[in-house]
Amino acid sequence: MKVGILGGGQLGRMLLQAAANYDVTTYVLENDPTCPAAHLCHHFTKGDITNFDAVYNFGKNLDALTIEIEAVNVDALSQLEKEGVKVYPTPAAIRIIKNKILQKQFYTQNEIPTSEYFITQSKSDLLQHISFLPAVHKLAEGGYDGKGVQVIHNESELELGFNAPSVLEKKIKIHKEIALIVAMDAKGETIIYPPAEMIFDPVYNLLDYQLSPAKLEEKQLWKAEAIARKVVTGLKSPGLFAIELFIDDQGDVWVNEAAPRVHNSGHHTIEANYSSQYDMLLRILMDYPLGNPAAIMPSAIVNIIGAEGYTGNVFYEGLEEVLKMDNVFIHLYGKTQTKPGRKMGHVTIISSDYQDLSHKANKIKHTLKAISKRNV
Ligand SMILES: Nc1ncnc2c1ncn2[C@@H]1O[C@H](COP(=O)(O)OP(=O)(O)O)[C@@H](O)[C@H]1O
Ligand SMILES: [Mg+2]
Repeated sequence: MKVGILGGGQLGRMLLQAAANYDVTTYVLENDPTCPAAHLCHHFTKGDITNFDAVYNFGKNLDALTIEIEAVNVDALSQLEKEGVKVYPTPAAIRIIKNKILQKQFYTQNEIPTSEYFITQSKSDLLQHISFLPAVHKLAEGGYDGKGVQVIHNESELELGFNAPSVLEKKIKIHKEIALIVAMDAKGETIIYPPAEMIFDPVYNLLDYQLSPAKLEEKQLWKAEAIARKVVTGLKSPGLFAIELFIDDQGDVWVNEAAPRVHNSGHHTIEANYSSQYDMLLRILMDYPLGNPAAIMPSAIVNIIGAEGYTGNVFYEGLEEVLKMDNVFIHLYGKTQTKPGRKMGHVTIISSDYQDLSHKANKIKHTLKAISKRNV
């Protein structure tokens, strides 16, 4: 079977690592021939995943196609789907999710709890919503990794808003931020992974590390699972989806956003769950039975992010020390160049003891650094 991936980043790379276990020939389309996935696939095609012809020509001789990023040419995927190529997630689902306005409207139409919102077309539209503040302004398309998301606390901050189609959402008083991964096969059967909880650094408000399974009240877990399943069944698309949710200070659960693909919040499933998110997606693409999403053991993820002040050839300071730690698994994404904030890799820790997980996560955060030898 021939399976293609649009995009060649680390998510594609880890999907290919899982694909190596199966009887499948893999194809990657990506502009950068030095990308993390380029050397792990059988066939690499250099091309623009947002270009109709590039995507169509790449996909037309394949059996199944998937994505590792939403910014793809959906029209080409629709055409391929019409011609009989399996496209999971479906082009219709990608179209809804890749635009935050359509995504919010989908939640409203399907009665899925999400924070109240207005649609704005330009910055000046914000003037009509001063009484709605504090709110979060989100670019409909083109945002990534927190760029394209702006908190607007009061009138004096309106200038920070986006001058392009966007969503203005009520700012939620977040108690916990969690993510749930749901997978659906072509028969409509679904599985759901245990929730993951984002632990934020209270000082810098950056994602510090992630714990899974998240410790939730039973009722909150049920609500979160019901919402996450409803998103995926509502999209009516086979594939694997990550649903980001908020639990607010009243204990209510709201969907934040969804991703129609393998996700950062599921890296730990490689070591910590019976079937990883990558294995699960391949099973779906290949029409195999769904795997078991249950956790073998609790786990934490620490992201390895390019350190501030360093740009250039990457050097991993503290790597040996972390390699000596028990039940700790290092994943470097094969990026030769580091720059501040770039995702260079991650570390998964498994342990039956949650205190051990956070202790090790903190230790790793302070030990392992992606820097460059020469400060350019
Ligand atoms: N309505 C909201 N209320 C409070 N915080 C929010 C809201 N929406 C987003 N955030 C915060 O901003 C972060 C990034 O927003 P998100 O929509 O997930 O964008 P991204 O595409 O960058 O992941 C969230 O993880 C959350 O911490
Ligand atoms: Mg998000």
